[in-house]
Amino acid sequence: MARKPKFQTPTGMHDILPKDQAYFRKIYNVVENIANFYGFGKIDTPILEQSELFSKGVGLDTDIVQKEMFNLKTRGGDHLSLRPEGTAPVVRAYIQKGMINLPQPVKLWYFGPFFRYEKPQAGRFRQFWQFGLEILGEKSPVIDAQIIQIFYNILKDLRLKNLLVEINSIGDSQCRPYYKKLLKNYLRSRERLLCTDCQRRLKTNPLRILDCKQERCQSIISQAPESIDNLCDTCHQHFKEVLEFLDEAEISYRLNPYLVRGLDYYTKTVFEIVEDSAEGKVLGALVGGGRYDNLSKILGRRDIPGTGGAAGIERIITSMKETGGIVSRVTLPKIFLSQVGKLAKRKSLKLCEEFRKAKISIAESFGRDSLRAQLARANKLGVLYTLILGHKEAIDGTIIVRNMKTGKQKTVKMDKVVKEMKKNFKK
Ligand code: HAM
Repeated sequence: MARKPKFQTPTGMHDILPKDQAYFRKIYNVVENIANFYGFGKIDTPILEQSELFSKGVGLDTDIVQKEMFNLKTRGGDHLSLRPEGTAPVVRAYIQKGMINLPQPVKLWYFGPFFRYEKPQAGRFRQFWQFGLEILGEKSPVIDAQIIQIFYNILKDLRLKNLLVEINSIGDSQCRPYYKKLLKNYLRSRERLLCTDCQRRLKTNPLRILDCKQERCQSIISQAPESIDNLCDTCHQHFKEVLEFLDEAEISYRLNPYLVRGLDYYTKTVFEIVEDSAEGKVLGALVGGGRYDNLSKILGRRDIPGTGGAAGIERIITSMKETGGIVSRVTLPKIFLSQVGKLAKRKSLKLCEEFRKAKISIAESFGRDSLRAQLARANKLGVLYTLILGHKEAIDGTIIVRNMKTGKQKTVKMDKVVKEMKKNFKK
């Protein structure tokens, strides 16, 4: 067995090879088009942020902050973290850059790598890519529905099928404390039956228990009180309207009373979009998001309502591959340039550039010297024409054009060959 090379990508991280770049490009283009249409501006935030942004924003008791952050201390003594998510950085930028002074709402989108120290498994990596959309400065429920609609349409445009929107409301600072108490009382009476993680969560963050995938906890969760039955009037009305807007937009959804999401900044609406299939269950949610009206206050500014979501790009690509989702193909070259001899090789570089300027793609194999090997390569690529530049032609200022289908050859002036080939492709 071949020995493993000494240097490998770090656990849970991967290279994005050329064969997958086409998927990234396709997703980027679809997101950019839709984001532009809906008036979102692109934002790039740093890969590193102050650790406190996440411990405060995402929540000290969340798995992300407790177990999954890549933390470092700089030489200057700053505590920084590789960003595990994009919402807290976007809200930080909104506050820092005074975007409150812009016409509201401010709509921002992003696309980039994120980092979580998770146990690598299907659909779960330590470096993964997300695109996200955030709308800040607007509290209307129509915006919650619009965010869901936009993500849904992006996935549809990427030809994903069997999409299911799961939705819930987890209330706000008015009604959530009461619900938490209710839930805690219910769970406390069953504490011994919970997994050890959930026994700890019962003390720190009982809502998080609803997220637990352990079988022993699942049966307890399925009988637990539901947040939607315990919303205050404002949250109840808000949620009712979100659902009405979704009905109006003809987006079907499933109420999931135990959807709480793994980040503490949410208020009112939370949602996920999943693929309703066996693979979808293994992969986990494609998109997750919700409303986060208190996040700006947690980060030190008055309340600025916000709502948004983010999608996992690797998970989307896995689904695209499974459903045979189309990917724009790289256009294959129609011409191959072969050269024999030093002088010909030198002239070939310039000739290639002339074809590039004329927007005609051309393949070559400058590393090969034998004409036979080069013609074999041209055949393999399935080009229509091969240009042959030998020593004699290089001196004469000519080049041989070989029609690969008929095998016919003709000699043309080198400074006319681009024009000549253009004519051939116009026919
Ligand atoms: P999240 O649910 O943690 O939410 O992540 C969003 C999506 O990123 C997930 O649905 C999943 O597709 C993908 N994802 C998360 N972790 C991993 C991982 N370890 N490996 C591969 N993919 C992963 C957020 O990040 C929130 N900031 C979303 C949001 C934006 N809420 C409001 N605005």
